[in-house]
Parts: sequence; structure tokens; C-alpha cells
Amino acid sequence: EVAATRAIINADVPGPVISRHVYGHFAEHLGRCIYGGFYVGPDSDIPNERGIRTDVVEALRALKIPNLRWPGGCFADEYHWMDGIGPKVERPAMVNTHWGNVEENNHFGTHEFMDLCEMLGAEPYINGNVGSGTVREMADWVEYLTREGDSPMVRLRKQNGRQEPWRVPFWGIGNEAWGCGGNMSAQHYAEEARRYATYCRDHGENTLYRIAAGANSDDYVWTETLMKALNELGGCGRDPRGIYQAISVHYYTIAGTWADKGSSTEFTEDDYYATMVKAAHTDRLLRGHSTVMDNYDPEKKVGLVLDEWGTWWNVEPGTNPGFLYQQNTMRDALVASTHFDIFHRHADRLVMANIAQTVNVLQAMILTDPDSGALVLTPTYHVFEMNAGHQDAQSLRVDVPGGLPQRAVNEETLATVSVSASRKDGKVLVSLSNLDAVEPAAVHLDLRGCTVSGVESRILTAPNLAEHNTPEAPAAVAPQVHEGLRVDEGGLHVELPAHSFVTVSVTVD
Ligand code: AHR
Repeated sequence: EVAATRAIINADVPGPVISRHVYGHFAEHLGRCIYGGFYVGPDSDIPNERGIRTDVVEALRALKIPNLRWPGGCFADEYHWMDGIGPKVERPAMVNTHWGNVEENNHFGTHEFMDLCEMLGAEPYINGNVGSGTVREMADWVEYLTREGDSPMVRLRKQNGRQEPWRVPFWGIGNEAWGCGGNMSAQHYAEEARRYATYCRDHGENTLYRIAAGANSDDYVWTETLMKALNELGGCGRDPRGIYQAISVHYYTIAGTWADKGSSTEFTEDDYYATMVKAAHTDRLLRGHSTVMDNYDPEKKVGLVLDEWGTWWNVEPGTNPGFLYQQNTMRDALVASTHFDIFHRHADRLVMANIAQTVNVLQAMILTDPDSGALVLTPTYHVFEMNAGHQDAQSLRVDVPGGLPQRAVNEETLATVSVSASRKDGKVLVSLSNLDAVEPAAVHLDLRGCTVSGVESRILTAPNLAEHNTPEAPAAVAPQVHEGLRVDEGGLHVELPAHSFVTVSVTVD
């Protein structure tokens, strides 16, 4: 039997709550994410409600998606929302210059997005246009969506068929302002963010949580500049109306170079370990940004939002390079599971995270066939579903007195076992990943401060790391009941086959 790593969890010492919003999603007008993915139009043969695919919605409802970010990404900074309201035939078209240079007919706009959110049970996170928009345009959009009573924008909304205001909790002030969102300096953007945020008003009962466009990966100076800009206006976290309440950051797991990111399905063991090291970097990244924020806001009132994360591979051969369509394997699943462990550990500062992107783009939950329309759930989908119990649960610290098993990868060290835990509604949920490509591992869970009255366990693994689901083999990677678990003296012994993700749900008193 494999020697077990001992992990101590004190179920009666809860840590900060894991915001459900770290299980958030992102849907951009990019490739086949919106058109063909979420939206096929009301006349499609594919079953839909008001143009939105019913099978996609049904599959995603199992994930309890807490929030959905839209319309971009880079697209957000060239999107003019007024082009996407009113009768579809009258909506002007535009060119999506970032993503494939294709024509965008604006048939999926504000009303369609809000409809989608209602169908999913997700809260909307709308990303406004700073790069090519105006303050007035953004202010009008907020008024259109959220104001009650009577006003020019309210009359327009009613004219388009919606009487009641919607609730929009999350608002993005531009996207990647350092790049596709306007190529601005940190200082310039900080001033723009304050100006735009000032006019994103709270109408009636709707209180906006404004998210300033944050750093590219480990650009800590960017975060510092935005924190300073907040402080100058009377102190961080005092929530002066009109100023931003959170700062975002984007980080993608890219094992190769930007020019050649590697194939999603054809990779060596070395490529795999290089990927996992890149994924593990997220921990250092979040700690770095949190530390900068702590200097200005020790009470952690300003939120950190990782609103784009996930793997980014070369596009699938033969597909449009601007559409970012990639396969999704057991390797992607382990990237997702380790990210969640990291998110759970940063629950004190990380208020939201959004995987890029939900359907047909980058590390997707769902892939749809462009010809048959057939839908496939990816290994990443299953990780989200298996981990849903962590949403809004109290995090539990996991102590490993003997240290985690490790492996040298190039110049770095990779912990090959990853664990996190939380407690909610009389259950302790423990998530465990064995990142070793070939060797099994085992963990002895020393669960203290509770009485165990039941245990259930599930496993996600596959014979090969490159295994993925297709319309022909939709369950090649799918969760199973995990038999490799026994109640031991003083805890639970959990076996972890090579490259596997396991959840253990313990009913406790
Ligand atoms: O998710 C794809 C793109 O990646 C987004 O549009 C952009 O914000 C980032 O560079």
C-alpha cells in the first residue's frame, strides 16, 4: 500500500467563507461561445427558449453558476450596448475586430443576456466599455438596466418590452486596459476608472459592486496604482459611492509560449508537469496581489477578482485561429481542481473568479459540435460540479505536518498532492488531487472537532491524461463512485490513483 500523507482538518475551526462567486463564469462574443454555444436563435432546429439552447442551460444549472461575466473580454471595449437592443432586424451589425474579424449581428444583446442569466439562476456581471466608449454610454446602460420609475432610459427599456428593472450586482469598468482595452498606463487607467465609476450610479435598490480592470498576471505595480488611486479618495473600503469596490487580475495557464502554447491533447509528461507548475503559480500570484492590497487595505474591504483564468492551448487544427476553440482533457480537469484549492485558501481576499470561458472557448465546460450541434460535457465541467458544495461554505484549513509529496520540475518544485476543505450544512467537503502522472498516492484525513456519521466519495480520472470527451464517447472522463476510501482508526484513508481528482463528502455532527 502507498504510504499515506497525513492531513489534519479541524472541522470546528472555520476560516473565512468561500464566496460562491469564485465558481463564476465568463461568456464573451468570441468564436462560438455566444452564437452556436449559448444562443442559436429562435428559428433553430436545436431546442431553445427564445433562442437560448435548452440543453446548455440544463447542463449548466447543475453547476449552480453564481455569476456570468459578459460581453467580454476584449470585446467589451468595442461593444456599444445600444446596438444590441430593440427589434433584431433593426440592430446594426459591427465587426468583431478582436476575434476572427467576423461580423457581429448584435442579435444577442442586453435583453438576451439578462434572459440567459435568469434561466441559469446566475447573477449578471456586465463589463462596460472604457476603451472605445464614453462615460455617458456606460451611465446610460446602468440606468437602462437598473432604474425604476420613469426616465429616458427606463422609457426605452419599457419600449423594448421590459417593464421592471433588472438587478445587476457586478459591473466591470473596462477590461485589460493595459492591452486590448486601450493600451493605457496604470496611472492613466486609474484616473479613467475613478471617472467612469463615479457615473455608474446606484439606482433605487440596485447597489453596484464596481470592479476596476486589473493587472496582467503579476504586474503588482498595476494593483498598487489602483489601490493608491482609491486611497487618495478617502481610504480604501470606505465605499465612497461612485468609486470601485474591487480590482481584477487575469492569469492564464500557458505551458508553452504565447506564440506556441502547445496542443490541448498531444502533450508529453514534461509538458504536463510544466502545465501544473504554471497552474500552481496562481497561489503566488494571488498572494502577491493580496499583499500589495493589504498595505492599503489591511481590513480587506476591497475585493480581488480573478475574472479570467484557465488553460490556453493552440486552437484545434482546422479551426479559426481567432475563435480560441480547444479540447479539454483530464489535464485541464486537474488545472481546475488545483485552482479551486488555491481559491479556497485565499477566501479572505478573493471575492470572485471567472473561468474563461463557459462554452466552446478556451477551458470550456461545454463543447458543441458546429455541424450536428451535439453537446459534450468536458472534464472541467465535472470538476465544477463535484466541487459545487464549496460554494458559500466556511473554509477549513488543511495542515500537513509531514509536508506534501513533491517533485522537481525544471527549476521549480511541484507539490503533487493538493487538498482543500470546507464545511456547510452539516457536511465537510474535502477535495483532493493527485497530480502525479503515473504514481498513485494516498491521504489519511485526520478529521477533528466533529463526529462522522456518513461518508461518500467520487472520483474523476481516466487511463490517460489526454483523455477527453467527444460526441462518440461523451463519458470517457466522467465522475464515478470512489471505492478507494475506508474509515480508519482516527480518520479516513483515501486512495488517489495517478492523475485523479477525488471529493469526499463527510456528514458530521
Ligand atoms: O478570454 C479571451 C481573452 O483573453 C479576453 O477577451 C481578454 O480579456 C483576454 O486577453
